[in-house]
Amino acid sequence: MSIDEIRKELILEFDFAGKILAEEEEEEEEEEALVVSLKDITKRVRAEEQTQRQLAYLEALHNIDIASASSVDLDLTIAEITNQTQAMLKVDAVSLLTYDPHLQEFTCRGREGFKTEALEHTRLRLGQGLAERAAREYETLHIPDLREEDAYPFTDAPELEKEGFVAYWGVPLIAKGDIKGVLEIFHRAPLSPSPEWSNFLATLAGQAAIGIENSNLFIGIQEANQNLSMAYDTTLEGWAKALEYRDMETEGHSRRVTNTAVRLARSLGLEGNKLLYLRRGALLHDIGKMGVPDNILQKTGPLDDDEWAIMHQHPIYAFDMLKSISYLRHALDIPRYHHERWDGSGYPRGLAGEEIPLPARIFAIVDVWDALLSDRPYRDAWPEEKALAHIRDQSGKHFDPRVVKAFLELEK
Ligand code: C2E
Ligand code: SIN
Ligand code: SIN
Ligand code: SIN
Ligand code: FE
Ligand code: FE
Repeated sequence: MSIDEIRKELILEFDFAGKILAEEEEEEEEEEALVVSLKDITKRVRAEEQTQRQLAYLEALHNIDIASASSVDLDLTIAEITNQTQAMLKVDAVSLLTYDPHLQEFTCRGREGFKTEALEHTRLRLGQGLAERAAREYETLHIPDLREEDAYPFTDAPELEKEGFVAYWGVPLIAKGDIKGVLEIFHRAPLSPSPEWSNFLATLAGQAAIGIENSNLFIGIQEANQNLSMAYDTTLEGWAKALEYRDMETEGHSRRVTNTAVRLARSLGLEGNKLLYLRRGALLHDIGKMGVPDNILQKTGPLDDDEWAIMHQHPIYAFDMLKSISYLRHALDIPRYHHERWDGSGYPRGLAGEEIPLPARIFAIVDVWDALLSDRPYRDAWPEEKALAHIRDQSGKHFDPRVVKAFLELEK
């Protein structure tokens, strides 16, 4: 799965969660409407207000959904949650702490409505603070009046005392049974909220938990992908080294041609993933020689027809070896086509001109250049002048003239 596909799935999930919430809210509204029609007009007015509030709540949830879905940046989602929570619940301040299970620590990631720097740099370890208590008990912690507490409970956040908060709620954010963080509500006056208010707070907390969970999931997948890529690339380098050893290539031939090919490709305007695929392909260009016996590979004289027939298979061996590795599916052009020639006289397919994929046309020049400058079992290294003259001479025959030009610029 590519990052993009994962992202799309996450977005679908968010959409889905949003719709379920919307349906639940609608059902509540319908029930409310039924009750209302049986009661008096004052209640009807109140119900009307309630419906308006429900709509506003829905809108708030929707905004949070959009923030979550349109960004993989958790901080933006959290900012939207704290913002909507404060506005919808009409409370003075809101903070959101996320939990790091490795450090066993809560960190304040979002704040809204504070007058001081309170909580800005707060990190709570286990056993500290109200937020941590709510999380530990898996239950909303409600303190109606902080002033009535025996001791001011925010031992690690002395600034909070200056805020003059009275009412406090700490709601644990739980997804898949695990604590993801805590949503905290602060108000500077006593507050006796309706069941509707409490429901909405719970809904917001649920939404926040899902947002954090999905973001962690996404980051986890990204990291796993990156680690995998690194492990793969290390494997490729080891593989290339093993071949160098058998092919009696000079030490570092693979890395050298790879680096030169990337530089040349860049000078021709290739970028991003194209360079990544080219790099991997270059590293593995001669991996198909693994299928060529030593007596041919290490022969000191010229090859006879039968030996050439086998040697000409090495690009096909490479393709057969690598084609089922999905990680390398974009990196096969070079192993497969690095011996094709611009004039159509190459192998294995006899492709000509731009039928030959550009990475392979780029690589062919670099490969021949490096081979000529190396001692091979079948001949000694050529001097640089002679090799350069050969490359120039083969422009339009073996090599793509445009690439030869770029190569000569690069080697100047
Ligand atoms: P390689 O040694 O890595 O050479 C890669 C490519 O560089 C060759 O592809 C060829 O295009 C160019 N090249 C290398 N040495 C020379 C040279 O002395 N003169 C010229 N004009 N071009 C050279 P090619 O020819 O398709 O060969 C593929 C592989 O076959 C070579 O890879 C090498 O492993 C083997 N090979 C080629 N010629 C001989 C040979 O005379 N004896 C032996 N034992 N192996 C050979
Ligand atoms: C990818 O799927 O890894 C990139 C897209 C492509 O180059 O086909
Ligand atoms: C909190 O629980 O968010 C405040 C920090 C503390 O209790 O020290
Ligand atoms: C993929 O395309 O599946 C990821 C591997 C890569 O970076 O090419
Ligand atoms: Fe080759
Ligand atoms: Fe080579």
